[in-house]
Amino acid sequence: MKEIIEVGLKTRTVDFSKCKTELLAVGHFSDAKGLDKVNAELNRKLDGAIERLIELGDFEGKDGTRALLYGNPNIGAKRVLLLGLGERKKATLDTIRRAAASAANRAVSMKVEKMSLALHRAFGGRFDLGKMGRACAEGTHFGSFRYDEFVTESENGRPEKIGVELIDSDPSKTRKLNNGINKGVIIGRAQSYARTLMNRPANIINPAKIAAAAKKIASECKNLSCAVFDEKKLAAKGMGGILAVGSGSVNKPRLVVLKYTPAGRVSPKVPIVGLVGKAITFDSGGISIKPAPNMDQMKLDKTGGIAVLCTMKAVAELGLGVHVLGLIPSAENLPSGSSYRPGDIITTFSKKTVEVQNTDAEGRMIMCDALHYANKENCDVIIDIATLTGACKVALGCYMAGLMGNDEKLIKQLQRAADDSGEKVWPMPSGDEYAQEMKSKIADLKNIGSKWGGACTAAAFLRQFVGERKWAHLDIAGVDIFEKGTETSAEGSSGFGVRLLTSFLMNLAAK
Ligand code: BES
Ligand code: MN
Ligand code: ZN
Repeated sequence: MKEIIEVGLKTRTVDFSKCKTELLAVGHFSDAKGLDKVNAELNRKLDGAIERLIELGDFEGKDGTRALLYGNPNIGAKRVLLLGLGERKKATLDTIRRAAASAANRAVSMKVEKMSLALHRAFGGRFDLGKMGRACAEGTHFGSFRYDEFVTESENGRPEKIGVELIDSDPSKTRKLNNGINKGVIIGRAQSYARTLMNRPANIINPAKIAAAAKKIASECKNLSCAVFDEKKLAAKGMGGILAVGSGSVNKPRLVVLKYTPAGRVSPKVPIVGLVGKAITFDSGGISIKPAPNMDQMKLDKTGGIAVLCTMKAVAELGLGVHVLGLIPSAENLPSGSSYRPGDIITTFSKKTVEVQNTDAEGRMIMCDALHYANKENCDVIIDIATLTGACKVALGCYMAGLMGNDEKLIKQLQRAADDSGEKVWPMPSGDEYAQEMKSKIADLKNIGSKWGGACTAAAFLRQFVGERKWAHLDIAGVDIFEKGTETSAEGSSGFGVRLLTSFLMNLAAK
């Protein structure tokens, strides 16, 4: 089996035009007046090639666009890749992250094994150089990622590793860029590992395998411990929701409990955070079976759980000053003679009873047990992440995750983390009106609401299992997958959540 592409990142102090490299990536804003210093120097040595490209209208610097030029003996680079950065005033750190991803994606497709990035130059002093270094590290991991561990015969192939250097002619600048690289590498690698696990199909990965992956990560990270509740322990605890959903498969359900304890003293102002991620390794719908088209995509129904797993890995490797409990309820939702049925009444871990009206609304059935566990374990803040509803995908499309919650400050903190990480969120309601729809006549709750507002009613269901805790919910159905490749990524799992949650925790710990 092929390994994930290895991204080697470092910095180098070198003149931009003299830099010997396979590919030199530079940025250009669409509303720039003329060429900036680096581009002007390259342009001069390339006999005006960049200017001609722009004059011909072949490259306008629009966000997401790019143009490739070839070097000549006057410059060190064999190729120059121009990355469009869009309008200057709209630029954020995600602009540089996406430009780095776009360059890395292109480089891997061209089988270029070494590239040099001078993307930060176009931004001047707008952002901290360390943060730009981090964004470049995250972006190059993101863009170079391929899921091909089972491709034994490929016409095209890809390099096993790619060397990336962030360059500047000023040693004090390269030093500052370098300060952010380590963080970016940890986060980028955690996300790429997440994307590999997320992409793995259900015959390869199941709840027990997720638990084994969690155990392995914990054994490799100091300050991270892992306990796994198997079906016997789940039964002993009374976690009826997880057991019900898992009952139809020979691959038995699990609850993975990861605990991160920071090495140093943590300010009492920093809350204990519980992360809860849905890990349905395959969602066929169960007895309420889904239609056949695109059912294969339901292997990605474990995205939230894997995002939590790999966030825990990143948090431990970063050594953040915040206590985090990572909970991953995992099951396979299949129809069989032992499946749970529509009409069943399930007693959940919280003792609240739930009437099952649709076995395809299984995410909330496993999440409610883990949420109650987080509440009992004294988490001050609980954030859950789940590919929960097709309704959320209908509402927001594939660009943003739905964000619900019961605490304005927490919502704002997550919006800020979304800005920092480039993993976008949009606020949605989940209050009393929606909760009303989830009442059952024969149990405390039922697991589906009316025809409308499915993302909100699902969130309103979850909300009832967190007690008085501060809680936020991320519905990531829609953002879990790139159905087609984009300029910044190959197709398949997006790894959504790892950067968002890690950024949130970094901001908390920085206080
Ligand atoms: N995993 C699905 C939601 C989903 C749909 C994720 C599309 C990604 C893309 C979830 O378990 C589900 O099946 N939800 C049902 C809920 C309904 C039965 C109330 C849905 O959205 O149809
Ligand atoms: Mn379902
Ligand atoms: Zn599901």
